[in-house]
Amino acid sequence: MLQGQCVILGVTGGIAAYKAAELLRLLIKAGAEVHVVMTRSAQEFIAPLTFQTLSGNPVHTELFSLIQEQEIGHISLADRADLVLIAPATANLIGKVANGIADDLLTTTIMATRAKVLFAPAMNSNMWENPVYQENQAKLEDLGYHFIEPVYGELACGWQGQGKLPDPQEVFNSAQSLLGSNDLAGKTVLVTAGPTREEIDPVRFLSNYSSGKMGYAIACAARNRGARVILISGPVNLCEPKGVETIQVISAREMYEAVMGVAEQADLIIKAAAVADFRPVVRGDQKLKKASAVTMTVDLQRNPDILAELGQKKGSRILVGFAAETEELLKHAREKLANKNLDMIVANDVTQEGAGFDGDTNIVRFLTADGNVEELPQMTKEEVAEILLDRATALLPEG
Ligand code: PMT
Repeated sequence: MLQGQCVILGVTGGIAAYKAAELLRLLIKAGAEVHVVMTRSAQEFIAPLTFQTLSGNPVHTELFSLIQEQEIGHISLADRADLVLIAPATANLIGKVANGIADDLLTTTIMATRAKVLFAPAMNSNMWENPVYQENQAKLEDLGYHFIEPVYGELACGWQGQGKLPDPQEVFNSAQSLLGSNDLAGKTVLVTAGPTREEIDPVRFLSNYSSGKMGYAIACAARNRGARVILISGPVNLCEPKGVETIQVISAREMYEAVMGVAEQADLIIKAAAVADFRPVVRGDQKLKKASAVTMTVDLQRNPDILAELGQKKGSRILVGFAAETEELLKHAREKLANKNLDMIVANDVTQEGAGFDGDTNIVRFLTADGNVEELPQMTKEEVAEILLDRATALLPEG
């Protein structure tokens, strides 16, 4: 997957430095040529020999090493990189780069490179929240540097909070996305994600289990491939992705309005949202009282079918729907593909373990209008998103 790509893996001094060894293994397995640069404090946590053995290349540690300069000087390292990936990246390293300090081999390489740079910060949660740190990260993001957010969990210092390095696989996925092609440059991709909520009264609603993870993964993958991305999201617990124009909605009717308002601008529309098909006919202005009732009936009426309406007026746009099924997956997916006039449908059996709502993985089949069916094994939603975009991009008209 990364054959012929050169990655400089920068390792700084944090307890998560050991995870960089697993990350290196994933990069090598994917075919990348990896050169590791370690700061002095990183060497307190893990020995350079580990990285040398895994990468098959000498590990670079010193800015003014005569031998290393002759073989592969720091400028040459910076020049040959397709990606500079720093994992873990300490607050100190990020602070230095944000303020133009290049006083060791790693900071010099970062400042001298024209390649994409991806930081995977890991630190104590108070340091992470410190406005000085946040200002440094924001400054670098504005300048076009990339970041993968640390995750919540128990930190080495005993605190619970945000600051942990994500799993090496997650960091690898982000690196892979950045190294991926720019095949959606100049295109606008509209993605919908998450559930909708249909209110019964001010405190109750009808909804479903969608977490938004599938749609957000598609939006991020499309952004990484150079697209302008508009994400229309129902209520979810995910952060708005950076570099994506996100429109928040609650109900199916709001999603309908938002989608119709921007659909004209899109070259590719992918509808991963789980839109409620029905809403209550009447929404109570006040909380409904149970009084002495034992049963209660809520009358429902149809919501607009957003995808079907897009299918009616899609023009040269490529339209991809999802089908969440609990039985007869292919039959129902085929019907939706035809009835909604789609170019492709992504079918998932949401009763299958590892597929559908909320989890981090999905098991999908792609059905195209020409009758083709492609079955994928269980994979992360990020991996599904990449393959989905490969297939959808191939359907886009030339030019
Ligand atoms: O969000 P996650 O937790 O990651 O879960 C992912 C997912 C299960 C939500 C996703 O993989 C998925 O299957 N999304 C589609 C869910 C769905 O509503 O499927 P459906 O078969 O009911 O609808 C078919 C298609 O029509 C969908 O593209 C849907 O967005 C669209 N639709 C449905 C109803 C409606 N009123 N308007 C629509 O546009």
